[in-house]
Amino acid sequence: MSIAPGSDFPPPRGDRPRVLSGIQPTFQLHLGNYLGALRHWASEQHSYDNFFCIVDLHALTVVPDPELVRSSVLELAALYLACGLDPGRSVIFVQSQVPAHAQLGWILECHTPLGWLERMTQFRSKAGTGRERERVSAGVLTYPDLMAADILLYNAEFVPVGDDQRQHVELCRDIAQRVNTLRGEVFRIPEPLIRATGARVMGLDDPTTKMSKSTALVKPAHAILMLDPPDVVRRKISRATTDANPAVVEPVGAGVANLLDIHAAIRGDSRADTVARFTGVSYGGLKQAVTDAINEVLEPVQARYRHWRADEAVLRTVLADGAERAGVVADATLLRAQRAMGLR
Ligand code: TRP
Repeated sequence: MSIAPGSDFPPPRGDRPRVLSGIQPTFQLHLGNYLGALRHWASEQHSYDNFFCIVDLHALTVVPDPELVRSSVLELAALYLACGLDPGRSVIFVQSQVPAHAQLGWILECHTPLGWLERMTQFRSKAGTGRERERVSAGVLTYPDLMAADILLYNAEFVPVGDDQRQHVELCRDIAQRVNTLRGEVFRIPEPLIRATGARVMGLDDPTTKMSKSTALVKPAHAILMLDPPDVVRRKISRATTDANPAVVEPVGAGVANLLDIHAAIRGDSRADTVARFTGVSYGGLKQAVTDAINEVLEPVQARYRHWRADEAVLRTVLADGAERAGVVADATLLRAQRAMGLR
């Protein structure tokens, strides 16, 4: 039987649709995070009611060192601001500072069939099938419920993420729908918002895999990090995988396609225009142009990053203010969920 949670649904919606997204404070962000996510979040802030989270509880599944967690949170906060997220337009906050995330996470875990979690691609790749399962934490399995809590607490309509997160947002929808079916209207059903440009930046060393933070940690040549100085960017791009052709000719291989896509995403050009522009250009010339484009976008972000990172007091104030504003919204949803479960 369903217990109607009361008249506080649907939650009031402002004049702009709400977005929520988050990034783990682990390792450094790379160019793919910027082109696929952060850049869009920043440039579209005026169109949405924005919540941007630093998901430190998620980071516990992979980074046990407390000092690293502490400094990574501040680093990521500084990067958010450096990329143009504006605390006047966006609520910027740390997940663990809003207790409702962990509280709703548990409730959602209790409404998620184990099979749904076991089938997630990320779980399967992290937990393997054999002995690794004995070692990875249970958090790696239940991670999607915590992520669903992040999203649902804010009644988010859209979740702007990279393509790799689509499955997680789909699962969040399934979980929310299941709770709504079983317990009455509790959650607004969110939608993924995945941008075509920059959504898939591939590894420089292996253009068949997506650029990833954890791979970058073991293979530095894999990714351009957001804080890489210009000469490091130059070196990494000069070593990027291409193919045996002497110059850009269609059909291009995966490595050259990736370089062209990076250039197109940065400049805001179409793939076709970019191919046309570089056809016949040597790989050396292409790499030079891609290096220059990357350094042009990263240098101002890095300068702003250094400015923000140097002022921990201001960073902490921004985050405390964000947690307070986030908490008001999150607590209202948590209460609605608790009532629907018979907990209040
Ligand atoms: N799972 C996301 C990632 O690994 C991070 C994340 C956690 C997130 N909670 C979220 C993204 C909520 C969007 C919305 O990138």
